Amino acid sequence: MKIEGATALVTGANRGIGKAFAEELLARGAAKVYAGVRDVSTVTDPRLVPIQLDVTVPERIAEVAAELTDVDLVVNNAGTGRPALPLAATLEDARYELELNYLSLISMTEAFAPVLAVNGGGAIVNMLSIVSWVAAPNLSTYSASKAAAWSYSNSSRVQLKGQDTEVVGVHVGYVDTDLIASFEVDKIQPQLVPAAAFDALEAGQPEAIVDDWTRQVKAGLSDDQNLIYPGVEEQFNAAVAG
Ligand SMILES: NC(=O)c1ccc[n+]([C@@H]2O[C@H](COP(=O)([O-])OP(=O)(O)OC[C@H]3O[C@@H](n4cnc5c(N)ncnc54)[C@H](OP(=O)(O)O)[C@@H]3O)[C@@H](O)[C@H]2O)c1
Repeated sequence: MKIEGATALVTGANRGIGKAFAEELLARGAAKVYAGVRDVSTVTDPRLVPIQLDVTVPERIAEVAAELTDVDLVVNNAGTGRPALPLAATLEDARYELELNYLSLISMTEAFAPVLAVNGGGAIVNMLSIVSWVAAPNLSTYSASKAAAWSYSNSSRVQLKGQDTEVVGVHVGYVDTDLIASFEVDKIQPQLVPAAAFDALEAGQPEAIVDDWTRQVKAGLSDDQNLIYPGVEEQFNAAVAG
């Protein structure tokens, strides 16, 4: 799919990676970009069309899909993480992450699939993570929610092919946004994420792998317990030892 001339909806487009997605869409010649956000006053870029949307509210998603009949590209970017070790995770936080990072994808996909079909197929871009593949102990429940989102991206891609809708899953490591502001790690700039995502979409690829670390992890998945998890364990033990 070509971005030029597209009409897109980006969830969480007011800041972080979502804002970078919206800017990249405009830079590539999108005709219109809706910013689906919880609070429309947080959309400061006059080139964007703000639309109130909390993606954990399926009824509101259905209303927005009925209203935005011109959309042919949906970017499911909104998400959050509540750091928790596996033995300290609360069900409340785990449920919230599932609602926002996984279940919202189901609601968004079901609501927008008919809109995309009418508009020629289009595409859905789902913001996933390196932790969709390899669980981070300090982000145990977040990792699980992103693994679920990855799985749903794969199954929905198969069915949506029948209506010529592409589904691109975007995998990345650490990105410099509010989400991980407290993490003292190497981070990439948010702009690199939509650049890789839309390169993949325009090339007809099902997945965008944004950074080298994520590429290395994917390459090791055929033997992850021997090739990847020893490193995860080493880092975990070093962190515990302080
Ligand atoms: N940063 C990373 O290292 C990283 C790595 C891999 C994947 N990701 C994923 O990338 C996506 C964007 O993350 P980010 O780093 O840009 O995070 P961020 O800076 O914390 O921004 C999160 C965005 O999601 C929006 N949002 C939160 N809950 C929402 C809801 N219920 N309905 C609609 N919008 C909601 C926020 O809006 P408000 O302003 O209203 O809160 C904000 O725009 C997420 O899916 C995240 O899991 C991030």
